[in-house]
Amino acid sequence: MEFLYLEEIDSTNKYAKERINDINDMTVVYTFKQTAGRGRLQRKWSYMGEDNIYASIVLKPSRDYKEVYSNLTQLLCVVLAEVFEEYGVEPQIKWPNDIRVNGKKISGILAEGVGVNDKEKGYLLQGLILGFGVNLNTKIEILSKIDQPATSLNIETGKFIDKEIFLKKVTEKFCLYYNRFIEEGFLLIRDDYLRRAEFLNKEVAVKVFDKTYTGIAVDVTPNGALKLRDKNNKEQILLIGDIL
Ligand code: BTN
Repeated sequence: MEFLYLEEIDSTNKYAKERINDINDMTVVYTFKQTAGRGRLQRKWSYMGEDNIYASIVLKPSRDYKEVYSNLTQLLCVVLAEVFEEYGVEPQIKWPNDIRVNGKKISGILAEGVGVNDKEKGYLLQGLILGFGVNLNTKIEILSKIDQPATSLNIETGKFIDKEIFLKKVTEKFCLYYNRFIEEGFLLIRDDYLRRAEFLNKEVAVKVFDKTYTGIAVDVTPNGALKLRDKNNKEQILLIGDIL
């Protein structure tokens, strides 16, 4: 992995997206001062102070898009969960890639793809950007201003967390799994994902663009999709969306 540290930036994802051709494969763009972080569903990711992580992993796999690329956020989610566990907390996964501790969000992932449409070859992928924000050392006063229940690793452990060490653990673990994951797909981590899934066998509402599906979350399929069963026993497989 290469590391590209930025003293201050609006968004590490935006930075990487705009310079995709100048950034090497397997580069971690990171900052401790992100002023306009982006979140999923057009939300923003607030700045929680300089002792937290704001990072984007830039990947350049094959130019033709493979389905497994859309599962990379789930790989990063499992990697983050494993690192949280090294600090003695019990992370729970909310499909597809949120991590919560004691019912409160502690990290979020935003994946963005950059590509071009080629007249002959169709869509050509230039790069994937896996952005992640982790609340490592945030004050309760700041967390209480967030629009959803949120926590931070220092609060859960009662200890100050070294951000450089945490970032190194995440990126090293991600590298360890990455090549095999591209070959084997979500199945490689399915058990590790399901073991921490907090939403299974619960009634959930899932937003997919401007539609909302409700039902019992009965499973996560071998390719990472969410299987819902509605009150008429009808099954729905959701490839993308957010549990509300
Ligand atoms: C979410 O909504 O849960 C996803 C949040 C992702 C935030 C991270 S922070 C680093 C990277 N740069 C951004 O602008 N967003 C992601």
